[in-house]
Amino acid sequence: MAVPKLLVLGAGRMGTALAAGLLRSGWAQRGDIALADPDPAARVRLGDRYPDLEALEAPVPADALVLAVKPKDVVAACRALPRGGYGRALSIVAGVPVARLEACLWPGLPVVRAMPNTPALVGSGASAIAGGSAAGEADLEWAEGLLSALGVVVRLSEPLLDVATGLSGSGPAYIFLVAEALIEAGVLAGLDREVATVLTVQTLVGAGRMLAETAESPERLRAAVTSPGGTTAVGLRALEERGVRAAFLEAVEAAVRRSREIGAEH
Ligand SMILES: NC(=O)c1ccc[n+]([C@@H]2O[C@H](COP(=O)([O-])OP(=O)(O)OC[C@H]3O[C@@H](n4cnc5c(N)ncnc54)[C@H](OP(=O)(O)O)[C@@H]3O)[C@@H](O)[C@H]2O)c1
Repeated sequence: MAVPKLLVLGAGRMGTALAAGLLRSGWAQRGDIALADPDPAARVRLGDRYPDLEALEAPVPADALVLAVKPKDVVAACRALPRGGYGRALSIVAGVPVARLEACLWPGLPVVRAMPNTPALVGSGASAIAGGSAAGEADLEWAEGLLSALGVVVRLSEPLLDVATGLSGSGPAYIFLVAEALIEAGVLAGLDREVATVLTVQTLVGAGRMLAETAESPERLRAAVTSPGGTTAVGLRALEERGVRAAFLEAVEAAVRRSREIGAEH
């Protein structure tokens, strides 16, 4: 058997989403990617859904490696890898510092650490990456190439990955909370829950697309829908009176602090 281009360790939600995204984007063809997972159910799920991906019980050597196991499993998983079997590695394991990964792998292996987020599961993720001590420009470009199959990618220094964790890693949950609150507000004001949900979801999708697809800043987009003395102006004043802006600043600060604490535990 030819050596695969990529061995993904962990055929869970993220590992599978990445491999499927790479097939979809044309980065990989049938046989280029193998996923190793000791869980037979994960392998069956993968084989049923993506016959072009190879599902293995144990890892095999490959050109490159992706670590996509849970943080608690990563040290044991790295130690069980064929030593020297990969030219470079990308870790999407949340919270585990690159130095810790380098220590469990082998000297000189270029390692790139990434912090993706859950919209990666639908191809609209936001990932931040940082290179380890042996990772050079070519390794960062390679990691960007992989993760761009799941959405946008930015480069940061490793300490700032904690900030990305608090902002874009936890961010989808903040937005889901906003969605819940808007739906409740619609129901309170008399809409059926189903109708309130359709209107809320499409409002978030539409506002997100305007932010992503127009060159306008959020401030200008907001000003454009805020007529003097109108409905949006009084709605925004109510939000500001309740300190919504300050609440988001504090939410991200708290999440960044927690990310640093978790990193220190590994
Ligand atoms: N989900 C997200 O939105 C998200 C966002 C950012 C980062 N991440 C990171 O992505 C990683 C994967 O998350 P996930 O949601 O995809 O987790 P998941 O669905 O639990 O997938 C992990 C898979 O790895 C398997 N596994 C455990 N030990 C292994 C080993 N030694 N070798 C190979 N496979 C092994 C697990 O099997 P068992 O079930 O039998 O243990 C499981 O099937 C995590 O580190 C997480 O922090 C996830």
